[in-house]
Amino acid sequence: MKLPISLPIFFVCVLFAISLPAHSAPDIAHGKKIDQEKCYACHAKKTGFGNGDMIYTRSDSKVKSIANLKRMVSLCNTELRLDLFPEDEVDVVAFLNQQFYKFKP
Ligand code: HEC
Repeated sequence: MKLPISLPIFFVCVLFAISLPAHSAPDIAHGKKIDQEKCYACHAKKTGFGNGDMIYTRSDSKVKSIANLKRMVSLCNTELRLDLFPEDEVDVVAFLNQQFYKFKP
C-alpha cells in the first residue's frame, strides 16, 4: 500500500501543530512592563505607602482566585480607560499571578 502523503511532510505538519500553542502563551516580561508603566504609580498613590506592589499583597485583598484577578485587571483597564488589548490583560494577569497571587491556573 502506498501512503497518501510522504513521511517528511507528515513530520513537518506534526511539528507545526505542536509549535502552535506556544504563540498564545502569556508574555510575563511584557506584563511586568505594563504594570510598571500603567498601573504601579496609581496603586502606589492609592495605598499611601508609595509602593505600587502592596495593593496586590494587602491582607484585605479582594482577589481570591484567578477569575477574580482577571475581573479586577479588566475592571481597572476599562474603568480607567488604560487602553490595554485583551492580549495585554492576559500578560498582566500572568505576571501578577506569578509574582504575587500564585493561584493555580
Ligand atoms: C488611576 C488609578 C489606577 C490605575 C491606573 C490602575 N488601578 Fe488597579 N486599582 C486601583 C484602585 C483604587 C484599586 C483598589 C480597588 C478597591 O479596593 O476596590 C485597585 C485594585 C487593583 C487590583 C486588586 C488588588 C487586590 O488584590 O485587592 C488589581 C489586580 C489591579 N488594581 C490591577 C490593575 C492593573 C493590572 C492596572 C494596570 C493595567 C491597574 N490596576 C491600574 C486604581 C488603579
